[in-house]
Amino acid sequence: MKKTFPNIRMRRLRSTNGIRKLVRETNLCGSDLIQPIFIIEGKNKRQRITSMPGIDRLSIDMAIKEVRSLTKNGIGAVALFPQIEKKKKTIQATEAHNDDGLIQRAIREIKNKVPDSVIISDVALDPYTTHGQDGLLSKKGKILNDETVEILVKQALSHAKSGADIIAPSDMMDGRVLKIRNALEKNKFTDTMILSYSAKYSSNFYGPFRDAVGSAKNLGSKNKDSYQMDYANIGDAIREVQLDIDEGADIVMIKPGMPYLDIVQRIKERLNVPIFVYQVSGEYSMIKAVSQKGWLNEKKIVMEALACIKRAGATAIITYYAKEVLKWMK
Ligand code: PBG
Repeated sequence: MKKTFPNIRMRRLRSTNGIRKLVRETNLCGSDLIQPIFIIEGKNKRQRITSMPGIDRLSIDMAIKEVRSLTKNGIGAVALFPQIEKKKKTIQATEAHNDDGLIQRAIREIKNKVPDSVIISDVALDPYTTHGQDGLLSKKGKILNDETVEILVKQALSHAKSGADIIAPSDMMDGRVLKIRNALEKNKFTDTMILSYSAKYSSNFYGPFRDAVGSAKNLGSKNKDSYQMDYANIGDAIREVQLDIDEGADIVMIKPGMPYLDIVQRIKERLNVPIFVYQVSGEYSMIKAVSQKGWLNEKKIVMEALACIKRAGATAIITYYAKEVLKWMK
C-alpha cells in the first residue's frame, strides 16, 4: 500500500472558510435561477395557492412589478404559467393560441415594461383543456400526438409573436420540437430559442403545480403516463434528449430535480448542451412544510439542494425559491 498519511491530509483543504471557498467546485449565482410565475386575469390581484405557501398567482400588472424587481436583482429568467378562467377551457384548447390570450398579453406587457427581462413561456395544453391533459383526446380518450402538435405549433408562434425569448414545450408529444422550430424559422423568429422539456417524468411531485394552474380537478384520477416518462427509466431519457437536440432544441430540461440527478449527470457526461433542471412544485412544498414544522433549516437545505443540482450538471435551475434565494444571496 502507498504511504499517504501524514503527507496527505484531506482536511487541510477544509480547514478554514476562506480555503473552503477557494477550492469550491460549484458556485451558485443569481443568474443561474429561473422564477416560475403564475398569471391570472384582473388588476392588482394576488391569490394564495394553498399547497404552495409563499407562492401567489399574480395579475399581469402585479407580475410586471415582480419581474422588474427580480430582473433588477439579477435573476436569470422568469417562466410564465397561466391559470385561465374556467369558462375559457375547451376540448380543443383553442384559447392556447389566442393572440390576445392571458399569457400572450402577459408576455407582451412584461417585455414592454421590462425589456431586459428574459421570458420563458410554457407550451402545453393542460391549462386550456377541460380534461387537464397536455394534449387533445380521441373519442376513446387517447392522447392524439400529431393533432396536438399542430395546436402546439400555433401556441408557440403566438408566444413568439408576443415577444417570448424562450419557448418551452412541456407537453412531451413526439416530434413537436422539429415542428415548432420549422414554424419559427418560416416566420422569421430565428432568434427565438426552444427550451425543450426533454426528460420529463410522469411524476407525482407535480401535484401543487396542478392546483396552481387549476388542472388538478380536471385531470381527476387520470394520469399522464402515456406521454411523460416512466420514473424507472434512464435510457429513455437519453434518447429523448438526443432526439430533441437533433430536432433543434437549444436547451434541454430535466424534471423533476432532486430525485432525478442521476439523469442530469448522465446527460451532462454524454451531450454538450445547456441543461436546465426543474426543482418542481412538490419539492418546493416539501421543503416549505418541513421548514414550517421547524424540523429543518429552510435556508440551509434550499442552498444545499440547489448546489447539489448544479453539481450534478445543471446549467440553470427553475425553482420556486429563486426570489428568496436572491434575497439570501444579498
Ligand atoms: C404541464 C406542466 C407541469 C409542470 C410544468 N408544466 C405539470 C404536469 O406535467 O402535469 C410541473 C411543474 C411543477 O410541478 O412545478 N405542462
